[in-house]
Amino acid sequence: MKKIIIINGPNLNMLGTREKDIYGNTTLAEIEQLSKKKAKELKMSLQFHQSNSESEIIELIHNTQKKYDGLVINPAAFTHTSIALLDSLRAISKPKIEVHLSNIYNREEYRKKSITSSGVNGIICGFGPMSYLLAIEALDSLIIN
Ligand code: DQA
Repeated sequence: MKKIIIINGPNLNMLGTREKDIYGNTTLAEIEQLSKKKAKELKMSLQFHQSNSESEIIELIHNTQKKYDGLVINPAAFTHTSIALLDSLRAISKPKIEVHLSNIYNREEYRKKSITSSGVNGIICGFGPMSYLLAIEALDSLIIN
């Protein structure tokens, strides 16, 4: 069975109440349920995490090398700022997909640059919670077991 991890960055614990016009009404707990349903359909096991701390996210990325077959990450605002996250993504050799709920390329100028995306296989953004489900499918096809 393929083992994957989904890592969520800062402020994503506020989904459902946070900037609903941009991120919609769906909570992170609901995205977790939808993601687990999709993983089950694909016979994958899924761990789902959220942290507001850059160091915790880096630890989770490092753990992927030993414990999982691939990762999906929504680095949230760290997408646009964190060379540390980029380096940790580059440090692991498992398939990696970056996701965003919103289309970061049609928002503010400072969101149009993703520092982290050059450390992943691909990026899916702009589909709301469906971005996560598409990423799980993409990861399934990238993992060779
Ligand atoms: C986000 C987009 C980021 O620019 C923002 O900082 C977030 C959420 C998204 O999922 O659309 O927190 O990653």
